[in-house]
Amino acid sequence: MTQLDETQLDETQPNETQLNHQPAGENLVEQLDETVAAIRQRVGDRKPRVGLVLGSGLGPFADHFDDRVAIDYGEIPHFPVSGIVGHAGRLVFGRAGGVDCVAMQGRVHYYEGHDLPTVTFPTRTLVRLGADILIITNAAGGISDQLEVGSLMLISDHLNLVGANPLRGFNDERLGPRFPDMTEAYAPELRELARRAAEPLAIELAEGVYVGLAGPTYETPAEITMLRRLGGDAVGMSTVPEVIVANHMGARVLGISCITNMAAGTGPELSHDDVTETAKLVESTFVSLLTGILQNLAK
Ligand code: HPA
Repeated sequence: MTQLDETQLDETQPNETQLNHQPAGENLVEQLDETVAAIRQRVGDRKPRVGLVLGSGLGPFADHFDDRVAIDYGEIPHFPVSGIVGHAGRLVFGRAGGVDCVAMQGRVHYYEGHDLPTVTFPTRTLVRLGADILIITNAAGGISDQLEVGSLMLISDHLNLVGANPLRGFNDERLGPRFPDMTEAYAPELRELARRAAEPLAIELAEGVYVGLAGPTYETPAEITMLRRLGGDAVGMSTVPEVIVANHMGARVLGISCITNMAAGTGPELSHDDVTETAKLVESTFVSLLTGILQNLAK
């Protein structure tokens, strides 16, 4: 066909291709039900209490689970698959610290090109599987001078500077309200529990505001100056959309950043290899902390 017909020229009408990129809110519940049913075929009626999202280099925590069952994301209907090194892409069921858990070993990011409903679909699945507590972790750049490479930071709040929101579009009230409250997006009682777990392990925990950006570039020094003035303590390219959908669905969230590098302009140039390298160095501390947190939750 060499000539466009009239409907193709009408820019006020979204065509089918554009509609496919709109938030999947209208059939989200049905998709989640299909996904949960497929997972249940593999793991039976296990009902995880805690869902974990394990960020760059932090995935190995789920390798230590008892009664472990792992499912590749590629085998789960509607799950997006990541191509990033250091993001394994497995859903892992098991027990840790005496608590039934389900963990995402790896996640997809907005910068990979997925829309936010797709990015956050696995997080919604954790809650739909029964987890009403989510522990969401990430690798982040440290902005605050209270932080150093290797610090672990409890997230007290966030700045959504991703430029989009996963809840945009149709809202299905079966999942949550149109206008979710975000006053305690990171549950204070879970932060307190994490601090209690860290103390006997002599793990120092910082606390601060996480800035979520779209990426995939690291920030410029000028952007870091701006983010510091806005009240940001650490910066990364994940977590914020996931925390939004978790709150939408009524789950309580504990957020932990592993400071893998100091933000741009405050130290050496940044590389993804350095990020995964630091996360590896922090791994054993991180595993002890998470185990301690889960043990405290089991009490
Ligand atoms: N900026 C953004 N995302 C990151 C960083 C950073 O410095 N480190 C790890 N993830």
